[in-house]
Amino acid sequence: MLQVACVAGARPNFMKIAPILRALRADRHFAPPLFVHTGQHYDYSMSEVFLRDLGLPPPDALFEVGSESHAVQTAKVMAATEQLLNRYPVDWVVVVGDVNSTLGAALTAAKRGVPVAHVEAGLRSGDLGMPEEINRIATDHFSHLLLLSSADAGENLVQEGIDQGRQRLVGNVMIDSLLRVLPTARAARTWERFGLERKGYLVMTAHRPENVDNRLRLRRLAEIMELAVARLPLVMPLHPRTRTRLEGAGMLENLQHLAGLHLTEPMGYVDFLGLLEGSAGALTDSGGLQEETTYLGIPCLTLRDNTERPITATIGTNTLTGLDPDAVLDVLQRVLEGKYKQGGIPPLWDGDTAKRIAAALVEFSA
Ligand code: UD1
Repeated sequence: MLQVACVAGARPNFMKIAPILRALRADRHFAPPLFVHTGQHYDYSMSEVFLRDLGLPPPDALFEVGSESHAVQTAKVMAATEQLLNRYPVDWVVVVGDVNSTLGAALTAAKRGVPVAHVEAGLRSGDLGMPEEINRIATDHFSHLLLLSSADAGENLVQEGIDQGRQRLVGNVMIDSLLRVLPTARAARTWERFGLERKGYLVMTAHRPENVDNRLRLRRLAEIMELAVARLPLVMPLHPRTRTRLEGAGMLENLQHLAGLHLTEPMGYVDFLGLLEGSAGALTDSGGLQEETTYLGIPCLTLRDNTERPITATIGTNTLTGLDPDAVLDVLQRVLEGKYKQGGIPPLWDGDTAKRIAAALVEFSA
């Protein structure tokens, strides 16, 4: 039986690792998998509530790396992964996404000769200014098995010289979680907590360092919040980084007084999915949200100049507006007039991705 260590550490990892753990537990080829939580995110609202909402078990190993510089955070994950691999005989390390925990765990496993499977391999924004882009490229190049959420990701890997034989198109594992939780999320009727009507409000999230760590861009973000809320009420759960930056720039108080703007704490998975599903549209710089809105058929305005998930714009409901208020206004107008594109769902975003991941792990272990 195969022993797999599944690594997660930051908020966007938990919805990807939960279905994989479940699929491995249900498959006779595998010993009970190890759930490794690096502790990159540690607040209740950034971690524990997700474990609860996704039905994740308590971690078998918790590294507690916390918030540090990229170098220190990655180094702590590496050292702790080494200790884990000293303790357990592991056949595979499965990493997901593009956060520092992904890179740290994968790099250590690869150097120890433990095969790495990277879920969500091959995504590229083309922007090396994003720490996630560096994490993606490095992780892909020393992974043994590259698990793709869409076919374009495979083309990126081939261009970088990564053999197609190591790739499997399995679909989007995040949609497995979305489908499982959606009925509960719908029943949560999150919008009612803000006195709003279903489909009568927008949702916004922003946390990328390139958007919130730069004062000028932070101001543009606030401008976009103002122009959006002038058209429809807006709910914005604040990432800790964004709250700190808005406070530091003395901008939080002004925003708190804007009529129709609901600034809230970060939400758990069920509440947020409920909020998103009930919304008329989303404005975001998140990667995951671009995919969730595509699946749900909800218009998404991405406040970035590039995306590593182009399929959400070509097939799905996503449009890149950057931090350009005119572009945002133009798209928003079309959304409000019911003239925005409909969008479709990419192949294999069907809720069975984790089973295909388990099958690929068995195939590549033979
Ligand atoms: C990380 C990921 C990013 C992902 C994001 C989702 C990397 C390089 N970045 O960015 O890809 O989209 O998570 O949230 O791995 N903080 C808390 N509580 C927490 C965690 C963080 O208050 O539980 C605070 C920290 O003190 C810090 C800030 O949030 O000030 C940023 O956290 P950090 O983990 O450095 O990066 P993220 O911006 O969360």
